[in-house]
Amino acid sequence: MKAIRIDNPGPAYRLFLAESPVPKPGPGEVLIKATAAGVNRADLAQAQGRYPPPPGASDTLGLEVSGEVARLGPGVPEHHLGKQICALLAGGGDAEYCTAPVECLLPLPRGTDLVSAAALPEAYFTVWANLFDAARLQPGERVLIHGGSSGIGTAAIQLCAARGHEVFTTAGTPEKCAACKRLGATHVINYRYEDFVDVVKQATDGRGADVILDMVGGDYIQRNISAAAAWGRIVNIAYQSGPTATVNFGPVLMKRLSLLATTLRSRTNAEKAALRDSILREVWPLIEAGTIKPVVDQVFPLMEAGKAHERMGRSEHIGKILLKV
Ligand SMILES: NC(=O)c1ccc[n+]([C@@H]2O[C@H](COP(=O)([O-])OP(=O)(O)OC[C@H]3O[C@@H](n4cnc5c(N)ncnc54)[C@H](OP(=O)(O)O)[C@@H]3O)[C@@H](O)[C@H]2O)c1
Repeated sequence: MKAIRIDNPGPAYRLFLAESPVPKPGPGEVLIKATAAGVNRADLAQAQGRYPPPPGASDTLGLEVSGEVARLGPGVPEHHLGKQICALLAGGGDAEYCTAPVECLLPLPRGTDLVSAAALPEAYFTVWANLFDAARLQPGERVLIHGGSSGIGTAAIQLCAARGHEVFTTAGTPEKCAACKRLGATHVINYRYEDFVDVVKQATDGRGADVILDMVGGDYIQRNISAAAAWGRIVNIAYQSGPTATVNFGPVLMKRLSLLATTLRSRTNAEKAALRDSILREVWPLIEAGTIKPVVDQVFPLMEAGKAHERMGRSEHIGKILLKV
């Protein structure tokens, strides 16, 4: 089969298409004939040598795919064979075939085409795991979502808006801000010109946001603490501006805040199965009703994975970049 390989891993990496053996599904796994794969910021970090795959995972890039179940590993029930699905992977998605544990398979939502479905798994597993599981976002609470135009952000805005939350979000260009507004954000902050702490405070009579989803870190660590309401929860999924900061923890104590951070990729299959069940119950019906849509920025052929990475590296995209296999 054809798969994407990394030449010269590091800051000046290059992606190329090469012949690779078709992977064999192990016990509890299926072989997927891929239709499309989602590109994630983590793929760029892996190609740069900054984010190695967890033990046992494929070293081929690609954390999510859509496609058809082509073969079953030992112990997998027959009914999975031939099903159109999308899947969360620990690696291996940028290829014609990949394997996935059954716990990480999601059925194709009715009304969603098979290519667009590749935009769903990583975003909704991450959003559910962080906003609803870790940060326990409650009905009626206000949420601040950083990076609103990202793959994760576009999913988080839509899901929170659909569940009736007042959504604050940050983005870096007027086009990205307009897209976030269309997706349902109530307050959109162009972080290059406005201070999100001021905007959140002013719009909430000084109260602040109950939950903050952050992928920036750096100076946002202190500023998130300032923007949080009493009993607020701040959850980090990345530290793009750096994982270190000098922090005044006084307001964390006085406002009774919780500081959280989680990763998804190295969780156990049982943990991923629990997330899958929540997503199927809470998110899939909203997609099937047309309330939430996959936000696809651009689809590149698999052999142009390098161009897809360049687009993400320049942060030109809004939503998800996909590779058509
Ligand atoms: N922990 C986990 O389990 C987990 C899972 C999935 C993803 N992630 C992380 O979540 C992030 C989003 O992933 P993705 O694949 O959706 O990537 P992406 O589409 O490339 O998103 C990156 C986003 O970060 C935003 N950003 C950068 N600097 C910012 C700043 N100073 N203020 C506000 N926003 C800023 C960018 O906005 P502009 O373009 O407007 O600057 C962009 O929207 C990545 O860092 C990824 O590693 C973590």
